[in-house]
Amino acid sequence: MRLVLIGGSLRSASFNARLLRHLAGELTAREHEVSTFTGDALRLPLYEDGVEPGPEARALHAALAGAQGLVIVSPEYNAGIPGHLKNVVDWLSTMKPSPWPGLPVLLCAASPGAFGGARGLMAWRATLANMGALAIPEAITVPHADQQLNDQGAPTDPRTASLVPKVLEGFLSLTARLRS
Ligand SMILES: Cc1cc2nc3c(=O)[nH]c(=O)nc-3n(C[C@H](O)[C@H](O)[C@H](O)COP(=O)(O)O)c2cc1C
Repeated sequence: MRLVLIGGSLRSASFNARLLRHLAGELTAREHEVSTFTGDALRLPLYEDGVEPGPEARALHAALAGAQGLVIVSPEYNAGIPGHLKNVVDWLSTMKPSPWPGLPVLLCAASPGAFGGARGLMAWRATLANMGALAIPEAITVPHADQQLNDQGAPTDPRTASLVPKVLEGFLSLTARLRS
């Protein structure tokens, strides 16, 4: 399948970008075609009515239009969606055809905090539902990410590590069924 991964903060040492790279590797190892968007690819101008989307927004839109599923790996800022990622979503929600309706989405988050960014994912669910995207009920969250992600972005805590293949497989099989 063709899958898009979007996420991470804008800082170069982003835990979420590290987790995203690990998940991209896991998906590639399962012979899926992945396109990743992190860092500067997410530095879009603030959405403004009447302004045409720039090359970064158009690249994201084209990738999503050709994708069977989306993986979002999002930091949690103040229990919500970080501004740069919400801005990406807002741009994409104004572009035609909308890539969101019926799009299967896997939500993931990493945080140095004890909740692993889980509260931010609740905000993501509300936004995705509003656009008609299908966020699956399962999610990958990595608490204490400053201690529990290795250099390659793999979770080191056994419970979280065992969750990754289980949740990925569930997402892939649901996406295949929805998109067949
Ligand atoms: C403005 C701001 C708000 C934050 N709010 C939360 C929060 O609500 N919950 C949380 O777990 N971490 C919060 N954090 C800490 C982030 O989880 C932490 O900075 C994390 O490393 C961000 O992800 P990154 O490593 O991918 O940059 C916040 C950080 C910033 C800068």
